[in-house]
Order: sequence, then structure tokens, then C-alpha cells
Amino acid sequence: MALPVTPKHIAIVMDGNGRWASKRFMPRIAGHKQGVDALKVIVSACAQRGVQVLTVFAFSSENWNRPADEVSGLMDILALALGREVPQLRKDGVRLHFVGSRDGLSQRVTRGLTEAQAATVSNSRLILNVCFNYGGRWDIAQAATKLAAAGQAPTEVALNGALALSHCPDPDLIIRTGGEMRISNFLLWQAAYSELYFSDLLWPDFDVAALDAAITWFGSRERRFGKTSEQIATTSPTLS
Ligand code: FPP
Repeated sequence: MALPVTPKHIAIVMDGNGRWASKRFMPRIAGHKQGVDALKVIVSACAQRGVQVLTVFAFSSENWNRPADEVSGLMDILALALGREVPQLRKDGVRLHFVGSRDGLSQRVTRGLTEAQAATVSNSRLILNVCFNYGGRWDIAQAATKLAAAGQAPTEVALNGALALSHCPDPDLIIRTGGEMRISNFLLWQAAYSELYFSDLLWPDFDVAALDAAITWFGSRERRFGKTSEQIATTSPTLS
């Protein structure tokens, strides 16, 4: 399907799983399971549309504060999804990349992440960054710590290279579902010039039509990167 301007990198805060389940008198974890199905559809649609990188927020540094059964349920969902979905991701040319701290994760989850990354390492159609046990503040702090240990000055370029998403360009479009209008510690550094799109849909209801609506909206934005409209009209928009 040809859309006018396809973002190279889309990032998503997949919010609303709990409310989706509560509305149906189901446990919150049922909403997260449905969220995995929604994610599969969006991954495939992004690959078909020529998106090069998709980054999703699956478990934040702050999600440890949720009830213990929800936290362990999310860990189980990740482990199960990896076992089930990796063969299809391999076939579809998707390269998985886990972004976040390994601290506090069980051996089973850590092994699952490492094996899934290794199994998809030679794919190049779409990079799927799964932010798990991730926070934007954690990322900036770990990058600064790495530079300090190497005796390097924390310049913008050096920090950029030490961040957990240094293998990707910054996101062009950040989508948040679930009706909230906040960034919630997601990609704090990388969101500097991203276009922000908020959808009232709960994540399990976010489908291909909703993705296309977001991409079409993105195509209507004038990205100025600090320049004026007049400058943009005469040059191609790039950071400088
Ligand atoms: C926010 O919804 C969603 C999460 C904290 C988890 C997102 C996880 C998935 C979509 C499943 C995919 C996961 C993996 C492991 C690949 P919420 O629970 O805050 O919803 P609410 O705002 O309605 O309570």
C-alpha cells in the first residue's frame, strides 16, 4: 500500500490493555495478551509499508511497581511470545532488538531475549526494538556512566553513540494509544524532534486502519528541525 510519506522509524507506547480487559470484565493480563496480537498485526503492517524501525514500549522501569501477579504475567507473556513468534519473525525478515536493563529479569527471560536476538540477527527488513525494563532516564544514565568509565566527555555525539538505541535513527513518529497525552519516560533523548500522535483507541483495538491514519497525519506535518518554513520550502528538512 502506498502512503504519501512513510516514517523511517515509528515508536509506540502501547497503552490501554488494562482498560480493554476491564471493560470486558476480564483480568488485566488478558488485555496484555490481546496486546501481543495487536502488536503482531502492526509489525507486519509496518514491514509491508516500508517502515525500517519499529520501537515499542513493552515494560517500563516503573512497571515493577504494579501488582506482583501482573508483573509476573507480563514476564510470562514475553517468554511465551518469544517461543511462539520468533520463527515467523525470522521468515518475515524482522530483526529483534531488546532495549533495556537486564537487572531484575529472571534467567529464563534473559535467555529468551538473548536467543531471540541471536535467531533474528541476520534479518534486515524491519528492526523491531522491544523496550523491556526500559526507561528514558535509565538509558541516559547508563550512557553517561559508560562514557565516564571510558574517560570520555559526555558530548551530544558521544552520548548518542552510547545510548541503547544508537543502532537506529531517532523516531520520526511516536504514537501513544489509550487517550493519555504524556511521554511516560519513553525515548526522552530520542524524541527531541519526533512528531507526537495520540490516539484514543485502547492498544488492543489499534489496527491497520489506525496505523494508516497516524502515518497519513505524519505526512501532513511540516518538520522544521529548528528552521523556518521558508527555509524548509527551499531545502530538504534535516537536522543541522
Ligand atoms: C500499558 O497498558 C501496557 C503495558 C504496560 C504493557 C504493554 C505490553 C504489551 C502490549 C504486550 C506486548 C508485550 C511484549 C512482552 C512483547 P496498561 O496496562 O497501562 O493499560 P491501562 O492504562 O488501561 O491500565
